[in-house]
Amino acid sequence: MYNICMAFNARPLKEKLHRKRSRTKSSAAWLQRQINDPYVAEAHHLGFRGRAAFKLQQMDRQFHLFAPGKRVVDLGCAPGGWTQIAVKAVRSTENNPLVVGLDLLPTAPIAGARMIQMDFTSDDAPVVLQELLGGHKADVVMSDMAANTTGNHMTDHLRIMNLLKMAYAFAVQVLNPNGIFIAKIFQGGTENKFLAQMKKDFKTIKHVKPDASRKDSSEFYVVALGFRGNDEA
Ligand SMILES: C[S@@+](CC[C@H](N)C(=O)[O-])C[C@H]1O[C@@H](n2cnc3c(N)ncnc32)[C@H](O)[C@@H]1O
Repeated sequence: MYNICMAFNARPLKEKLHRKRSRTKSSAAWLQRQINDPYVAEAHHLGFRGRAAFKLQQMDRQFHLFAPGKRVVDLGCAPGGWTQIAVKAVRSTENNPLVVGLDLLPTAPIAGARMIQMDFTSDDAPVVLQELLGGHKADVVMSDMAANTTGNHMTDHLRIMNLLKMAYAFAVQVLNPNGIFIAKIFQGGTENKFLAQMKKDFKTIKHVKPDASRKDSSEFYVVALGFRGNDEA
């Protein structure tokens, strides 16, 4: 069903993992968790580029985020699981690309998506994304961006809040009225003020902990539905 990704993930997961020779203790633990994780196996089976795809799939089933013809911006798109879900749901094609993605890391091409490798915190990122949108506004802006975690809960929280605020500033600039904003947050205390602002700009705010989100992570997602538009916001 996702041909391009079948090629990307062609080698069996266990085989790939066992090829790694030198491992630190924590990376060995990570690999063990990957091997035992049913979402990882299922993602591989379905040709998704990562288990994160199931998080977006669940949110889409719950809130009907996408519809054919909608335009989507995917912030922090690598390796591409969310982009795969969005491309299929909005029926984005090479001739009529509706999905735009950005990541610090390279993302292997996905037919129907336009992706760029770039730091979202750089000054010109919003302009570049708007160019990729071809002058159109977006219907969905979603951010799964997260800097590498440090193990320090507050540092991780503050880092992700910084990315979230930037993603939000971008979203309110480019979203169509009734548009949708989705973003990852790590609980930590400073999100409440921000969520209060979102409640003014959007008709409905939902907090979601998808089944595929690890239970031991403070990660959750905010889904903001029904953007009131720049005039009303
Ligand atoms: C959890 S992964 C995203 C997974 C993706 N949603 C998927 O389904 O494949 C988080 C991504 O955020 C990216 N990221 C973190 N900080 C970023 C930044 N400043 N600009 C762009 N991407 C960033 C990371 O490189 C990483 O690929």
